[in-house]
Amino acid sequence: MTAIPAKKIHEPQNGVEEGSPGKGSPGRGNASLGKEDLAGIAVKMIDSHAHLTSPELLDQLDLLLMRAEEAGIEAIINICTDPLSLERSSDLIKKFPWVYQTAATTPHDVEKEGEEAFPIFAQAAREGKLHAIGETGLDYYYEHSNRDIQKKFLRRYLHLALECDLPIVIHCREAFQDFFEILDSEYIVNGRHHAPGVLHCFTGTMQEAEGVIKRGWMLSLSGIVTFKKSTELQEVAKRVPLEQLLIETDAPYLAPQSHRGKQNEPAYLVDTARFIASLKGISFEELAQATTNNAKKLFQL
Ligand code: NI
Repeated sequence: MTAIPAKKIHEPQNGVEEGSPGKGSPGRGNASLGKEDLAGIAVKMIDSHAHLTSPELLDQLDLLLMRAEEAGIEAIINICTDPLSLERSSDLIKKFPWVYQTAATTPHDVEKEGEEAFPIFAQAAREGKLHAIGETGLDYYYEHSNRDIQKKFLRRYLHLALECDLPIVIHCREAFQDFFEILDSEYIVNGRHHAPGVLHCFTGTMQEAEGVIKRGWMLSLSGIVTFKKSTELQEVAKRVPLEQLLIETDAPYLAPQSHRGKQNEPAYLVDTARFIASLKGISFEELAQATTNNAKKLFQL
């Protein structure tokens, strides 16, 4: 359904390169939990961004969601990027009511698929079937869709979010200036505040992080923060206020360092959470509790 292989879309940026595949324990499932992980099981976390109904994960969802539960994941925001993944998601959430769904065409695909999908997603939003609009946004790094078309759809989705009183999930890469400009002119309530949203899988600069934070938004960090070369992102993790931080896997892409090169899944969120907690000098429990509260507040869970 996507114009380019999804892995490409989620490739790390800012000089962070993919390493060689990690050595998994042969013959075991992806989420073989070590002793250290077991200590965190009583702690609940929310994976604020995963593509559960993408073709890569479809045939393993039962096991994957079981492992997520075992790892302490109490809710997952399933990001649907085309009408088919939303249709599959609508079935999935009947079986797993702790999975919640959002929908939008990604900035990569708006040129090809945007027009056709928009009315379907808009209808789902208006019927109360979504917990957020997204992921939408701007990607000038790949620029798989024309910039003006990306901006047009970002605006349409922002207006839809305002209309339906839903938060928005944003993907932004090398396009923060245009993104903030659009946000400041089109996503304001009562003439003053920015309506709610999250900058997902943030990989920008400290200055861009500050732009997100000062607008009262959530900033979400993925497993990229655990990569050795992500030094600026690790500084961002230290600085972002705990009450504005979300954590995510962006599964099936971007496994954290400890599972590098493998297919990512929500159970691996625990590794990212531990890593950020140690960066911030707080306990894993505190980090998990705060990010869980933030996700519940943003997505109205
Ligand atoms: Ni994503």
